Amino acid sequence: LQEKQSYRTSFHFQPPRNWLNDPNGPMWYRGVYHLFYQYNPYGALFGDFMIWAHSVSYDLINWIHLNHALCPTEPYDINSCWSGSATILPGKGPVILYTGIDANQCQVQNMAMPKNLSDPFLEEWIKFAQNPIMTPPDGVEGNNFRDPTTAWLSHDGKWNVIIGSWNNNQGMAILYQSEDFFNWTKYQDPLYSTERTGMWECPDFYPVSVNSTYGVDTSVLNAGVKHVMKASFNSHDYYMIGTYVPEMEKYIPDNDFTGTGMDLRYDHGKFYASKTFFDSVKNRRILWGWVNESDSIEDDMDKGWSGLQSIPRRIWLDRSGKQLVQWPIEEINKLHGKKVTFLDKKIDSESIFEVQGITAAQADVEVVFELPELQEAEFLNLTAVDPQLLCSDANASIKGRLGPFGLLTLATKDLTEQTAIFFRIFKGLKGYVVLMCSDQSRSALRDEVDKTAYGAFIDIDPQRENISLRSLIDHSIIESFGGEGRACITNRVYPKLAIHEEAHLFIFNNGTLSVTISSLNAWSMNKAQINHKENFI
Ligand code: FRU
Repeated sequence: LQEKQSYRTSFHFQPPRNWLNDPNGPMWYRGVYHLFYQYNPYGALFGDFMIWAHSVSYDLINWIHLNHALCPTEPYDINSCWSGSATILPGKGPVILYTGIDANQCQVQNMAMPKNLSDPFLEEWIKFAQNPIMTPPDGVEGNNFRDPTTAWLSHDGKWNVIIGSWNNNQGMAILYQSEDFFNWTKYQDPLYSTERTGMWECPDFYPVSVNSTYGVDTSVLNAGVKHVMKASFNSHDYYMIGTYVPEMEKYIPDNDFTGTGMDLRYDHGKFYASKTFFDSVKNRRILWGWVNESDSIEDDMDKGWSGLQSIPRRIWLDRSGKQLVQWPIEEINKLHGKKVTFLDKKIDSESIFEVQGITAAQADVEVVFELPELQEAEFLNLTAVDPQLLCSDANASIKGRLGPFGLLTLATKDLTEQTAIFFRIFKGLKGYVVLMCSDQSRSALRDEVDKTAYGAFIDIDPQRENISLRSLIDHSIIESFGGEGRACITNRVYPKLAIHEEAHLFIFNNGTLSVTISSLNAWSMNKAQINHKENFI
């Protein structure tokens, strides 16, 4: 049992037991952060009685699990309460829109409000008497109509919301409008649709400031913002950046989805069904994502739980305007314990050194690499290469010139087990190419786990900027942020030996050229406080 439970995390959000998936309705309201999430109260696998579990926090790090907010009780949600979002109605308080699986197994949209607005935790929710408020429109099948977004107020004072769908061989965001938030009418055309994706799950639609890293409220619409449209399909969260034209009810992306590896993604590893919210206390937009298991169903049942939420990430538009940037919320630093630091340390070709003195199974590490021999990088003939393919073709043991170099996380002393997060730098046709990879091939002395390699290009010029990497390591999850958050890779790994005190952290350089660590800061992480009610199931 000790070994099985060694995969539970210390500072990631997870319930005491059972299955978790999508984050639902995240919000800040009157001093309290709320996170609802898809939960199966009856087991460690996805089920046919999915509910909205509910937790609250003052800092997004330490949590209290409350009684469940929404459970199947009515004909319009009797077979599950699926994903949805919260909207705070000015002067009136929060409202939840969620998908119910009705008595005919059809997906419909429902509404719920807090029973008592003066309860600081908003523990009890009342379903609206006139549910459902939206049913699948003509032509849309009952299993392709779900996951309402946070609603926004448009130029004409109407509320707008989008629902994920698949219709006529197109993935789409179906648009609904309302004057009073109760009566909703479908707009004639979807806000966006495309033949190049699958069914859109958990869409998200929000403005980002053009000139600032601050977030803005979901209804903000002016010349200082661009709009992000995100959809979940093919196991990833893809997004576009573009312009929202409310007068035409159209979204015009700078670059449409192509259905290829070139599309923008929040994370190149495991991260799905995410959702953002605007945090009005700190004026930032925060992203939560579901990170599922990658061991076997038997393992999930054995350990009695499945699924994590990512560390909440602040999200904003990059200076280039071409992509989003993500960074763990600053509150995570409150958990920093013992710290070790290195400055100006040369890592010779084919060498390795251990970062000692911290709890390597529960750590935060931030390292910045300088590349004194950049001009010697090898040439990469880059015409439409998929970064993930480059990473699976050459794992961390394959020598190059400039790279692979990076971290060996959750490693045994003798390196039999190790998960590498690393870079390779190439000279491309139009300047340098920075590749970030994760290599799970030696993550566990076990066969029945998924050991896929993940990869991403980072849009930086190493002549002008050093290459940075931050990894949050938490027993069975590693969340990595490359190039100051311009590329993210999340891994789930299940070491057999590299657990607790047997886990080590190394820096390695397997290239023939040397690299220099200009700085490294690594911290032991303390455990987040997660409490739950006696009767939590
Ligand atoms: C995404 C999803 C949603 C759905 C929910 C059910 O992971 O499939 O589309 O509402 O999970 O739990």
